[in-house]
Amino acid sequence: MPGTELFGAEERKEINDVLETGILFRYNHDAQRNNIWKAREMEAEVCKVVGAKYAHAMSSGSTAAQCAMVAAGIGAGDEVIVPPFTYIATIEAALMIGALPVFAEIDETLCLSAEGIRKAITPRTKGVCLVHMCGQMADMEAIMEVIHKHNLVLVEDAGQAMGASYKGVSTGLWGKTGAYSYDFFKIATAGEGGVMVTNDEQAYKHADSYSDHGHDHIGSNRGMEQHPIVGFNYRISELHAAVGLAQTRRVPYLVEKNNEHKKWLMSRLANVPGVSFAHIPDPDGDSATFLNLLLPDTESAQAVVAELNAAGVGGFNYWFTNMYHFINQWDHIKTLRTASKLTIELLGAPQDYAQLDLPKSQEVVGRLISFGVRVTWTQTELETLANNLEAAIRKAMVAYTC
Ligand SMILES: Cc1ncc(COP(=O)(O)O)c(C=O)c1O
Repeated sequence: MPGTELFGAEERKEINDVLETGILFRYNHDAQRNNIWKAREMEAEVCKVVGAKYAHAMSSGSTAAQCAMVAAGIGAGDEVIVPPFTYIATIEAALMIGALPVFAEIDETLCLSAEGIRKAITPRTKGVCLVHMCGQMADMEAIMEVIHKHNLVLVEDAGQAMGASYKGVSTGLWGKTGAYSYDFFKIATAGEGGVMVTNDEQAYKHADSYSDHGHDHIGSNRGMEQHPIVGFNYRISELHAAVGLAQTRRVPYLVEKNNEHKKWLMSRLANVPGVSFAHIPDPDGDSATFLNLLLPDTESAQAVVAELNAAGVGGFNYWFTNMYHFINQWDHIKTLRTASKLTIELLGAPQDYAQLDLPKSQEVVGRLISFGVRVTWTQTELETLANNLEAAIRKAMVAYTC
């Protein structure tokens, strides 16, 4: 959780600015707020850090992902290609707007592959929601070729990959719209929050209105504002934005330090039998929030997980059995258990979600163990972790190959 590791005086100062005015609402109240506009400042800082023309802060990464799909023009009845390995919010966002998720294969980048996307395209495909997983990025050149060839709209859920880029272009800016999460576990946190980014003015205007009941935000009299579109309340509060602002300023340092730590661990572990790493299409663009180990197969990965647990080594995720990140555990999605009817139940699912055939995704996620990289690690802590990891892997591999 790198963002929270550095929580300090800067965050407190930004929060106090808001508390002193008492204006917790991001819009209006111009006379009372003493020119304190934290959501606006946070958005400007995000634009600066990632190189976006427009950013719009929201209540969560989930609402930002939903808003990103809406602002890109994806809606009811549209098929949208999604990965089976993501935080479940990506799938929920598509379902909430009436879109029809179509699951496609990922590869060793941990993200949708160009080939996986190509195979999932049907005449009803409107777009792709590409998720940049575990702090890394997808293979963007190959993917953009498929997007352009088939005239699809690309939305990037970069909920876990703010600060990552591919050949100098930030995650979130390859497609029409992109989204970052600012929840408690991310590189920059606001406690709860999210940001949608885009270089498209119309998409930005839609996001701005959609996330606040359709308001056009013109003038300073909220009660008299026009409503160009139908929207809802996905607003961020000034208190959350204050924290998000201070944390966004920290992102370049966090990326640099994370990379130092991740690169050191990778070179230290590279020769341990059985160890390889998730593919990073642009090693210079990694946000390095996770060290992503790939073991030879699911059985050996599970043996390593058992050894790590037995040795009391924590700080890792084995996503294959995780309830929120991999499709194997999403029974409520597979059987479409809903509180009240969703559009997909009226239109019919585009795939039989209970019988999906995604062998490559099963293989990759089965082999994957991800360690959260900490920005405050000392050299001694890094060495202890590497030694513990090597010992657990060696033990598991010996037991596994016998
Ligand atoms: C890829 C991805 N998308 C969306 C989200 C949702 O973000 P939030 O928790 O801020 O709603 C997350 C959160 O973990 C995520 O990892």
